[in-house]
Amino acid sequence: MSRKPLMVGNWKMHANHLETIQMVQKLSYRLDGPDFDRVDVAVAPPFTALRSAQTVLEADRIPISLAAQNVHQESEGAFTGEISATMLAKLSVSYVIVGHSERRSQFLEDDALVNRKVKAVLAEDMTPVICVGETLDEREAGQTDEVLIRQISGALKNLTPDQVAGLVVAYEPVWAIGTAHSAEPDDVQERVQRCRVAVVDSFADGGEHVRILYGGSVNPGNIGSYMAKRDIDGALVGGASLDPDTFAMVVRYWA
Ligand code: PGA
Repeated sequence: MSRKPLMVGNWKMHANHLETIQMVQKLSYRLDGPDFDRVDVAVAPPFTALRSAQTVLEADRIPISLAAQNVHQESEGAFTGEISATMLAKLSVSYVIVGHSERRSQFLEDDALVNRKVKAVLAEDMTPVICVGETLDEREAGQTDEVLIRQISGALKNLTPDQVAGLVVAYEPVWAIGTAHSAEPDDVQERVQRCRVAVVDSFADGGEHVRILYGGSVNPGNIGSYMAKRDIDGALVGGASLDPDTFAMVVRYWA
């Protein structure tokens, strides 16, 4: 089963729309056509910069996809301050990050809500990037696999195998995010394989097509060791995606 690698830069609450334009252009200068043949690349600026990013990407025909960092589960209504999947689709957004651990811990998003958001994203023909991962306490209590399987089955509840086949899952151990403590590649491979088995058990062939990324302190020095693992299909990159030179090195992990 060959799955095209995917590198997603999650900018979190960084970069205004002017900085975004510069970052997208710089990144495009660092990458060539053959890079895009090998890897799918996406950036997730804040909502306020999506329109500017879309304009640059389309005007300059840059094959970098646009991702959003979050979405509301309803398509419209009285939800002050929220953004719908319909609105994101109109901005040519391709991927939407759902259930990031910062949303789970700081904004109390649970698996049922993640599932509703996944469905809202799919309904607009965009691809959810579903984040799962254990906290340090859960890991130390030996609950890692249980947590991953619970989060995955919760997020994928009532989806069809066809819908699941197009999904992206990001395994992000919470203790490895934004720290210098990236997870061991062997350990990530083992966890990611368990995640895949869980998806295959529920959705047959669909599970083989799901791209599973690793996230947690990925940088140009460690990306190659993750990409060498059979079940790791790319990365969700936070800090190292804010500098276009550095992110380009992550994207070109073989160089
Ligand atoms: P990091 O963030 O690369 O800065 O660890 C990853 C993420 O939160 O998606």
